Amino acid sequence: MSAPGPLPQHIAIVMDGNGRWAQNQGKPRSAGHQAGSDALKRTVEAAGKRGISTLTVYAFSSENWHRPSVEVKHLLELFLNALNRDVAELDKNNVALRFIGNRSAFNPAIRDGMRRAEAKTRDNNGLYLNVAVNYGGHAEITEAVRQVAKEVTQGVLRPEQITEALLEDKLYTQGLPAPDLLIRTGGEQRLSNFLLWQLAYTELYFTDTLWPDFNGEHLDLALADFAGRQRRFGSLPQVENA
Ligand code: FPP
Repeated sequence: MSAPGPLPQHIAIVMDGNGRWAQNQGKPRSAGHQAGSDALKRTVEAAGKRGISTLTVYAFSSENWHRPSVEVKHLLELFLNALNRDVAELDKNNVALRFIGNRSAFNPAIRDGMRRAEAKTRDNNGLYLNVAVNYGGHAEITEAVRQVAKEVTQGVLRPEQITEALLEDKLYTQGLPAPDLLIRTGGEQRLSNFLLWQLAYTELYFTDTLWPDFNGEHLDLALADFAGRQRRFGSLPQVENA
């Protein structure tokens, strides 16, 4: 059951706490990521039922490559398995998948799996699920600036034609609305290089719940909190006879 009041259309999620969840249970970190993958499936279903149209989740940051190689290997296997196993079900549930981030670092099997998953689900419109992989906000903005600079050098674009909309169009999230709400699980209160441009006016919600424990009830708590926020986008609250 969701709270009365405005519903966020687009929710971004930093799915943090898999490692601690596993540690608490005396299990290897890989078990935490597996449970995190199950939590993601639950959350996609719960979000769809509540009428949320877009979810953007942080699955693998550009800094995650620095983790021990056995953990990186496990995460990549998890992605590949999900791409092979779960896409048909997502497709059946009318979910459109899109991957955002720099794919060039992934092996051909994963890149091909991403491409096929996007092609298969392209026309779905029940829920848009964007999965950030090898994603970094600084890298995304840098790449956008590089593209714009190239166009200026080529004489296709004049510097005075560079607008916020033009830059937005060069980001991985091209065409997506900005997130209304960011949820970060796992107790830390930071953005960790996620969607730095896109989160400018997003409401932030932090919870101590570890990601593998996250479920529809936790989502409802976040939605109720959001419903009580007053969004001003840098303006003033609506006052009568002002
Ligand atoms: C952060 O927890 C989580 C990650 C780096 C990986 C997130 C990946 C998943 C939830 C699996 C998603 C699966 C698919 C198929 C997209 P952490 O390891 O940093 O936890 P800790 O802070 O407790 O150590």
